[in-house]
Amino acid sequence: MDQDLERILIDRTAIAGRIAEIGRDIVSDLGEDCESDGIVLVPIMTGSITFIADLMRQLPLRVRIGLITASSYRGTAVESSGEVLLEGEHLPESLEGRHVLIVDDILDSGGTIRRVREEIESRKPKSVRTCVLLRKKIESAMETPCDYVGFDIENEFVVGYGLDFDDYYRNLPDIGVLKPEIIEMHQSIAE
Ligand code: IMP
Ligand code: MG
Repeated sequence: MDQDLERILIDRTAIAGRIAEIGRDIVSDLGEDCESDGIVLVPIMTGSITFIADLMRQLPLRVRIGLITASSYRGTAVESSGEVLLEGEHLPESLEGRHVLIVDDILDSGGTIRRVREEIESRKPKSVRTCVLLRKKIESAMETPCDYVGFDIENEFVVGYGLDFDDYYRNLPDIGVLKPEIIEMHQSIAE
């Protein structure tokens, strides 16, 4: 697994440190409001599973979790297809009057966050905020409104800490870049 990485971009220690900071920011913005209304975290499946597990433990608030599944990459593609599918949800019956924090692993074209925000806003929550661990330094990502961003990274395909390539590598503890020959190998098998 680790030997498939060309290099590590962000290691587990840096990730943990930054998540603690984001947690403090969220608590200072939402802490008081949450006492009465609570907060519903909505991690976008599947890429944000690792991030949400760590982030929620930095939030000493009245927190509930709802899941939503979206996908924009297909199989062995390393670029967003542009088309975002909402494939399922497991949300509280009503979000009306609640504070919602949408959480995703990475902001790329911005399609996923926009689509999920639209869906959540249609349920009349009291507020909607968004949080991503990574954001690519490209126009479409930088222009997508997002309240909390962990790291701005160059425009390259990354895996680990929940992020996948062809559904693999989510279990890597660090975030890194795959060796080009590994990507080529998966793509040639898929053809
Ligand atoms: P967007 O809709 O183009 O912003 O893409 C966001 C989704 O695409 C994320 O939720 C990720 O699942 C996936 N994604 C985008 N960039 C990467 C990457 O570099 N590695 C793995 N998955 C990615
Ligand atoms: Mg995703």
